Amino acid sequence: FGKVIDFHEVVPSTQKIAHHLAEDGATHGTLVLADEQAGGRGRLGRVWHSPKGTGIWMSLILKPDLTINRIPQLTLLAAVAIVRSIKKVSDVDCSIKWPNDILFEGKKLVGILTELQSEMENVRAVIIGMGINVNIEWADMPAEIRDIATSLKIITGKTQSRVMLIQTIMTELEKLYDLYLNEGFEVIKPMWETYALSIGKVIRARTMQGEVLQGVAKGINNDGVLLLEDDQGVVHHIYSADIEI
Ligand code: BTN
Repeated sequence: FGKVIDFHEVVPSTQKIAHHLAEDGATHGTLVLADEQAGGRGRLGRVWHSPKGTGIWMSLILKPDLTINRIPQLTLLAAVAIVRSIKKVSDVDCSIKWPNDILFEGKKLVGILTELQSEMENVRAVIIGMGINVNIEWADMPAEIRDIATSLKIITGKTQSRVMLIQTIMTELEKLYDLYLNEGFEVIKPMWETYALSIGKVIRARTMQGEVLQGVAKGINNDGVLLLEDDQGVVHHIYSADIEI
């Protein structure tokens, strides 16, 4: 992954470019990278603050031979690859909040946004957008995220190499992806679970339909779906939601 890199000083969003490139025949593993995003976006239509020079704003194009129902597994796989890479490069231990937030002491360090191009049940391309707060200072964060976000520099007190981290993530992602294709999600699931924050805890899940469910997070199933047991003992399958722990 990342053998072909499409680098930009500033773009609205690397996701958008990656979508266009994927449609225009970009090869599996192409990486779109930007130093700054003027219109970075997060999940649920949120804004992703992406200032110049202080973060990793990138979108990886994959063209897997998988059916749609297996795509959530790729988000979880990407989260594992990033957590491991951050440990390797910066010696920081982070956790994962299902499905795709990477946190340090409860504050968000990385966000992952997985988007699809598909035709019926067949996946044409998967765009894995990754936003990593690397060297942003606390004082330079917008006021509304200062209490909920963090960066590697804030955590370690040192400027971190973005290049090193990107390279490590690409290597790690490719390694896990090959393992996943050869041996299935069963080998990725336990890795994910070692970093997962919510397992065994009481959580509240706000679904896309606005429904709120509360219960104990039992874990994820083999599709990467979150299992929540309510106080009636009913197990709900959560495909997509915002989670509060
Ligand atoms: C989230 O936690 O809501 C996901 C955030 C994803 C941000 C990344 S930064 C690179 C790529 N381009 C975007 O516009 N968004 C993703």
